[in-house]
Formats: sequence, C-alpha cells, structure tokens
Amino acid sequence: MSAITQVNSNVGVNKIPENFLLGAATSAYQIEGGWNADGKGESVWDHYLHKQPDIVQDITNGDIAADSYHLYERDVEILKELGAKAYRFSISWTRILPDGTTNFINPHGIAYYSRLIDLLLANNILPLVTLYHWDLPITFSNNGGWLNETTTDRFGEYARIVFNAFGDKVKNWITVNEPSIHCSFIYEYGIHPPLKKSPGVGFYECGRNLLLAHAKAYHIYDIEFRKIQGGKVGLSLDAEWPIAASDSKDDLEAVKDYLAFNVGQYMDPIFKGDYPERLVNRIAAASRRQCYTTSRLQALTAKEKAYINGTADFVGINHYYSLYVYRNASVRGMYETPSFLDDTGLGTFQDPSWPQSAFTRMREYAPGLYSLLMYLKDTYHNPVVYITENGFPTTPAEDLNDEKKAHYLRAYLKAVLDAKANGSNCQGYFFWSLVDGLEWASGLQKYRFGLYQVDFIDPSRKRTARKSALVYKEIIRSGTIDFGYNPNPYGDTCFINT
Ligand code: BGC
Repeated sequence: MSAITQVNSNVGVNKIPENFLLGAATSAYQIEGGWNADGKGESVWDHYLHKQPDIVQDITNGDIAADSYHLYERDVEILKELGAKAYRFSISWTRILPDGTTNFINPHGIAYYSRLIDLLLANNILPLVTLYHWDLPITFSNNGGWLNETTTDRFGEYARIVFNAFGDKVKNWITVNEPSIHCSFIYEYGIHPPLKKSPGVGFYECGRNLLLAHAKAYHIYDIEFRKIQGGKVGLSLDAEWPIAASDSKDDLEAVKDYLAFNVGQYMDPIFKGDYPERLVNRIAAASRRQCYTTSRLQALTAKEKAYINGTADFVGINHYYSLYVYRNASVRGMYETPSFLDDTGLGTFQDPSWPQSAFTRMREYAPGLYSLLMYLKDTYHNPVVYITENGFPTTPAEDLNDEKKAHYLRAYLKAVLDAKANGSNCQGYFFWSLVDGLEWASGLQKYRFGLYQVDFIDPSRKRTARKSALVYKEIIRSGTIDFGYNPNPYGDTCFINT
C-alpha cells in the first residue's frame, strides 16, 4: 500500500489532551434569520431564495431559520450546557455592511455580534469567527461575484472593518469557508445562487479569486492588526479522504490527483507557493485537447504566488466522509467536457457497509479522518490544524435519538486523538453543527445536523438536546470518550434505543 492510502490506527487514544479545544460550529445564513432586521442588507441567498424559491428542495429559506439573531442567548446557554470551550460562527457581511461596501457600517450589526462575542467570553467560550460563509452581498454577486477580481478588494475592506470592530476580543479568524465546495456549487453544478453553471471554467476562476481574497484579508490583519491584537488567521477547506480502490498504479495515481484537485488546489499555494504540478498539467492537457488556446486554470503570477504563500497561521479542515477512488478506461467519457470531474479523470464510490447518514454520500468511516490528518502533517510540514466541521445528519424521524450521529462523533473524535498521538498538530475539533439549520439548497426539513434539535414549526424555535449532545457533553465533562455511555435524550421511560 502506498503511504497515502488508508492507514488504520491501533493507538486507541480516548483521553482528550489538555488545551485541546472542543466546540461546535454554525454559519450565519443557516441559523440567524433576521434577514432584513435592523438594517441588514440583502445577500445573494436572500435575493435568490425570495425570487426563485424552488432553488431549495422544500421551498424553505433562511428568513427565520433557527432565529439565532434573536435567540443567541439560548445558543450560548446551549454551549454552556455542553461545556464547550469554543464556538465557531460566521459573520453576515450584509449585516455589517448592508450594500457590501464600507459606505455605510450598520451599528446594529456591529452591536449584535458584540453582544454575542461578549456573552461567549463571559462564559469562557472562545470565539472562532468566519468572515465569509457563502453569503455574498447581492450587489457584488450581480457584478460578477467571485469571477470579478474587484470582489477580492471589497472582501479586504470588509475584513478590515470586522478586525477593527471585534479584533480586541476575537483572536481566531477564518477568512473563507470551503472555497472549493462554494465555487463548485455555484459554477460547476449551478445549484447555489446565482446559479452560474460554467463547468471547468468558473470553478477555477472563483477558487483563484477566493485564494487572493483570503490572502488579502491575511495581509491586512498582518500589517494593520496583528501587533496590537495578537490573533491568528486561517481558512477552512473541505477535504474528504480518498482511498485507492486497488494497489494498481492507475488507482494510486488517481488518489494523488484527487488530493491535488481537492486539497492541493488551495493548500499548495498557501503552504508551498504554487498550484500542484499535477493539477496544472492535467488541466492544461485537457484544455489543449479541447482546443482552448490557454489552460482553463489561469496560472498564478510570480507576484500572486508570493502574495498567497505563507498566508495561514492554521488551517481549518471540514471533513465529512471518505471515498474509494479509481482510474480505468470506464472513466473516459463519464463526465461532461469540459468539467472539473473530467479534468480529474477518476471515478469514486463508497463502501456500502459504511453506516449511512440521511445524506447518501455522508457515511461513517472514521479512519479516513485519521489518514487525512497524517497526510496533512506529512505533506505540509505539520501545520496547526483545527477540525472546523465534522458532522453526520440524521433524519427528522430519528428525532432526539440520533444514535448514529452520536456514534459518528465519538469515532471521528477518537480518530483525531489518534492522529494527534501520532504527531498531527491538530488543536481543536468543532462539531457541525450546534443546532439544526438551513442546509442550503436542501432546505430545513431533510437533514438534521444539530446536536440540538430546532423545532422549525414552533415560532419560539425551541431547542432540545439530542442524544449526541448528551454524549458530547459527557466527553467534555469527563475528558474521555466512552463508547458505552448511553444517555436517554427523552429523560423518561419512552426512550427506546434502536
Ligand atoms: C458547509 C456547511 C454545510 C455542511 C453540511 C459544509 O460544506 O460548510 O455550511 O452545512 O457542509 O453539508
């Protein structure tokens, strides 16, 4: 087996090390609601989900969602109930800057996040704050969005306002959440607003601009704030773990390409100074075959490379699942041309025996996270890593008894501890998510990611602890992972453990 295929850990660490941050995560549009409260401006999600509601499968939207704009005190109370040491949330750009620009700073937006941050700190909960979790101001979306390089300048200006407003209290910043998924859902697949499907083209351009936007915010922090505020800046990347379907040379190469296209596209420019060679070469070759005069992946200039290189004090990893990867003749012609998938030239599948969540592709295979962390350690000089998302949706029918989620949480956290014991510099773990929220184009109904259930019918958006919350709470309290702990989320005799 090659070094980057599956490694099974037998270390079996169940103790949470001291100073390891355990927390939970959310994002603004998915939970806040208050979409136009107190002067908030319109984001691309507000705009499109009002104009074209059927973008979302169950025709729901984020107008109210979990109503955290009004219920943030309850959210902090939940974090306290869990004993969480940290909370990852995102700031809504248009709550702070209603039209996206610095022409007008909304004092109510500043006041809202100040209240939330103060309450977290008063309860010894560390804020890890994301500047951008996909809710682009509609003004910029209408002006080319992330295909327009000037959006990176606007992002820098927004970052400066946020650092200035909250940086005395917030010491850990994530600039951008999941550039790869964000760009692919808009440009590759056309399923997230503004639905601009341009396979094999927009995706790379969007990703390139998000890298530049990230670097811009990093430099602004570095030059203008770091000395006084002393915080850290990173970004969150989505990363599945690819396992070679066999030991054949083609399958092992496919794994390397999968990692180059999905992880390396962002990690390499930041940690090694340029795009991975295999990414550059494969896209250039495919572009030539398709009669493009230049590669669909625009190279980074020497100036851009220098600008992006070294711009992360830590990397946030959002990891949900693993998959098998292969390459053989059957892959040829499998995808539309041009497209990202066609450029990768590989096929994927999953092991049907891996426990499945409500979402087909999200299955439990915890050794994948172990391998991913070891890969990051070996490939990028052991950077500081936070698992900024990891989660497993259950169905509404599973209600409070989300046994599978509780198992997933324990298994993945154990994989993180195993990796840590073997040298990974992972310093924290944030479960996705604290409460149920709007699962983007899948809506409010189908997937329940929350440790706490939210009753979306109840106007008070009542939050109730699920079994996974009780399990997490016990892990944090005892500092150990006990797979035998079996709490009753109903607190009475009607609990049947399936
Ligand atoms: C996103 C979250 C989303 C989660 C589950 C991640 O890609 O950052 O916003 O809810 O996946 O699908």
